[in-house]
Amino acid sequence: MPTAEHFILRELLARDSHWISGTTLATKLGVSRVAVWQHMEKLRAAGFVFEAQRARGYRLTAPPGTPHAALIETQLKVRPRGFSLLVLDEIDSTNDEAARQLASGRAAPFAVIARRQTSGRGRLGRAWHSAANGNLYVSVAFRPRVPPERMGAFTLWMGLNVCELIANFTRLTPSLKWPNDILFDGRKAGGMLTEARVDADQIRDLVFGLGLNLNSPADGWPGDLARRAVSLAEVGGTPLDFNRFTAALLGRVLLAYQKFMDGDYTKTFADLWHRFDGLRGRSIVLVEAGRRHHGTVSGLDDEGALLLRDAHGRTHRFRAGEVTVEKAS
Ligand code: BTN
Repeated sequence: MPTAEHFILRELLARDSHWISGTTLATKLGVSRVAVWQHMEKLRAAGFVFEAQRARGYRLTAPPGTPHAALIETQLKVRPRGFSLLVLDEIDSTNDEAARQLASGRAAPFAVIARRQTSGRGRLGRAWHSAANGNLYVSVAFRPRVPPERMGAFTLWMGLNVCELIANFTRLTPSLKWPNDILFDGRKAGGMLTEARVDADQIRDLVFGLGLNLNSPADGWPGDLARRAVSLAEVGGTPLDFNRFTAALLGRVLLAYQKFMDGDYTKTFADLWHRFDGLRGRSIVLVEAGRRHHGTVSGLDDEGALLLRDAHGRTHRFRAGEVTVEKAS
């Protein structure tokens, strides 16, 4: 349900940092100028930067660098029926919150975004560093009701869509490291964690979690992460508009999910894989269930499993595993 805040934000964004008078806003909204001023003060407290002049009105000079629900919603171009967005200041894990919301019956699809997570999780039980540092922590929840085999390539498909969105938005070229890492020159800018609850032979609900380093500064990482992690702002040399990017990302994720469920994705998958795959032809070590496998990556199968050619020319197929790229000697 759009609120006065949505309306004001739409008007301000439409003017693209030009002035709009308090009287115009008040007339369009059907409220007093004092009420408009109160809304503007609330936005200011949420991190919006305005210029205000008696004769000219208001002008947005900088949006907030932290997640703001109405600002994301105002800029969201894809909005499936019933979609809702939950923006939180702090939560244990957006994936866990999405699972709790699903369990309590919230209509899907919906997204949960937090400014900071206290127990952000990655794959294999690892922690995901989740400080309030301008990075994005988001989970999108769905109820696919299909057999689990149908979702085999889902995380990869989503990762490819996220890579293309990043490329379109920033003109940077990330690579996707199977199965869930978004990298720049070997440093991690994003990771995905898809979790599902299965009932009998159907997926009851599914949470796609994404941690994406948008705006954290180079000196903001603890310990060893400084060497292994990187943000898009650091790679591109300029900060991103957090909420505009997040709206574009959510739109892309929602659309990608629909295409995946419609089965209308294989050609695009192949094209995007060709463009963003960071492993093809590389010598890697893949660790799966404690065993190490050496080989050269030859591609993917239809279910998103990685194909690895060993030293004897035999091809092995892996549905899961941890990949390390071997250094060229
Ligand atoms: C990985 O690279 O191992 C996956 C990292 C996934 C992190 C995201 S942040 C948002 C969502 N909430 C979590 O607790 N984890 C995912």
